[in-house]
Amino acid sequence: MCGIVGYIGTQKAVDILVDGLERLEYRGYDSAGIATVLEGQIDCIRAKGKLFNLKEKLEREVNPSQIGIGHTRWATHGKPEERNAHPHRDQSGRIAVVQNGIIENYQELREELKEKGYTFLSETDTEVIPHLISDMLAHTEADDFFGAFLLAIKKAIARLEGAFAIAVICADYPDELIVARQQAPLILGFGQGEFFCASDVTALVNHTRTVLSLENGEIARLTPLGVEVYDFDLNRLRKLPRTLDWSHTTVEKQGFRHFMLKEIYEQPAVVRACLETYLTPNWHAAENPDTSPVQLGLAPEMVENLQYIQILACGTSWHAGLVGKYLLEQLAGIPTVVQYASEFRYAPTPLIPHTLTIGVTQSGETADTLAALEMEKQRRTGLDASFAPHILGITNRPESTLAQMVDQIINTHAGIEIGVAATKTFIAQLMGFYFLSLDLAYRRRSLSLEKLEEIINGLRQLPAQIEVILEKQEKAIEELAHEFADTQDFIFLGRGINFPIALEGALKLKEISYIHAEGYPAGEMKHGPIALLDSKVPVVAIAMPGEVYEKVLSNAQEAKARDARLIGVIPTDSPETRSIFDDLLMVPQVQELLSPIVAVIPLQLLSYHIASRRGLDVDQPRNLAKSVTVE
Ligand code: F6R
Repeated sequence: MCGIVGYIGTQKAVDILVDGLERLEYRGYDSAGIATVLEGQIDCIRAKGKLFNLKEKLEREVNPSQIGIGHTRWATHGKPEERNAHPHRDQSGRIAVVQNGIIENYQELREELKEKGYTFLSETDTEVIPHLISDMLAHTEADDFFGAFLLAIKKAIARLEGAFAIAVICADYPDELIVARQQAPLILGFGQGEFFCASDVTALVNHTRTVLSLENGEIARLTPLGVEVYDFDLNRLRKLPRTLDWSHTTVEKQGFRHFMLKEIYEQPAVVRACLETYLTPNWHAAENPDTSPVQLGLAPEMVENLQYIQILACGTSWHAGLVGKYLLEQLAGIPTVVQYASEFRYAPTPLIPHTLTIGVTQSGETADTLAALEMEKQRRTGLDASFAPHILGITNRPESTLAQMVDQIINTHAGIEIGVAATKTFIAQLMGFYFLSLDLAYRRRSLSLEKLEEIINGLRQLPAQIEVILEKQEKAIEELAHEFADTQDFIFLGRGINFPIALEGALKLKEISYIHAEGYPAGEMKHGPIALLDSKVPVVAIAMPGEVYEKVLSNAQEAKARDARLIGVIPTDSPETRSIFDDLLMVPQVQELLSPIVAVIPLQLLSYHIASRRGLDVDQPRNLAKSVTVE
């Protein structure tokens, strides 16, 4: 959460910083601010609320500065007020700092600095940093190798505890932008005579595709002449930037009203990209029995002798993990558990040998998921080889912290997702689990080659089937959504592989429409929640033909008998289904195993249109941030 950006070069810094903040606003939008070095002073402009408030203030400024830092905030310490907005300055107003993360020992540092006479103007944890740097700078001299500014920052960082990414400028060092990273993302961008930093590559792709992800414990000094990277002891590190393979990615709405709708519409292309990347071309069971139909490039030691899989994730990624569990158990026959990363950390499962741990996070930066994986790695290190940590990441961000910390990733190739509510990245995570389960099923011979081929043929049809839903259903769903603009509660029911889709449908609705919604396993309703039902509580039932189809229909009937308005996500429009459901959200008929992919699309559209009808900020719902980098 929170986005930071920095620039040093030959262009007007304010324009680059504001552009960067626009791309980072999904990380938090409680306030925004920028600081530049202008005529020997720090010029700092901040505004409460969304970025347009800051932009309004900046319109009144003429600022040709070519160095600066910016911040968009998701409040942790201190209310979303202007005085708590970043950048924060030291007492002399000559040092400015932006930070993403949490300084855990800020209370202690604050007291210490107060005793020394420093005055604090905000309630934030961040404000200790400029004061600390200022205090260090007062007692630091340049040596043969380093300037005093860098040395002072090094000393200040040594006092900080917690997770942070910072960018610092100083009016007395107008050619230096210094950044540091400890457990919070920070990417450097390299241009021609200009250099950038940002919490996320989205803020850089308009300017450069040559990037370097800083690792934990690293400081970088950016000047108009280049970038130097050091560890926290100022030992110089040799690091090579890499080129982002994102030439086709766009961060514009392209005519859609919201990013979320655009991203829902990108799903056929995302599924196609995944199929092209991971399926073995022209694979046929009869002709290629000795080749896996899926090419994930998994290291043999990661998947050999596998007895147990644990999936760690949060939110929508956790829902993808639940579908993954179903697939891994039913296709590959491997016992699998799915844990909330935030819970697992404090109550981990007793160690089981030959375990594969899978971290699922689209951003690759979710603090709880990263911390849980790190803990798992630590507690398995140094034990008998059968307990060795094998950690696989499923992520949309190959440049992320997750990608750096795990043994291998499955890159989900969904492109940048800007809408806070995850849509296309969820579908892509599901694809990741299909490929993994099929690869493991092939290796373990738990499915016949013919069955594998049948599933793969089904997967190949999904892009066109999603297109059909988008083309034929959106209008009807939009009209239906209008009827629920004032509804207060919703129930989503699913069973088997579609129970996680019921959870996901409910989460999408809650987070963007602020309507209370619950996802429930359809068969569990009668054990309590059915008491909630009456004519004011619509029920969405996912009824996809297969093992539990008849059961879901019966559960739907039970809801109908309590006067609930019943909406079916279903492929069959028959007199029978018409007699049960008040409204049908039609989807193509697919193998039950693949049904989550088609079932989730109408639910995404339903929540989108309900929220949009309620006039809400669909892409940036209140209190949320796209990348949850605090625990
Ligand atoms: C819901 C949503 C969140 C995220 C969760 C984990 O639409 O976006 O629930 O799924 O914060 O995020 P990642 O996948 O980045 O770890």
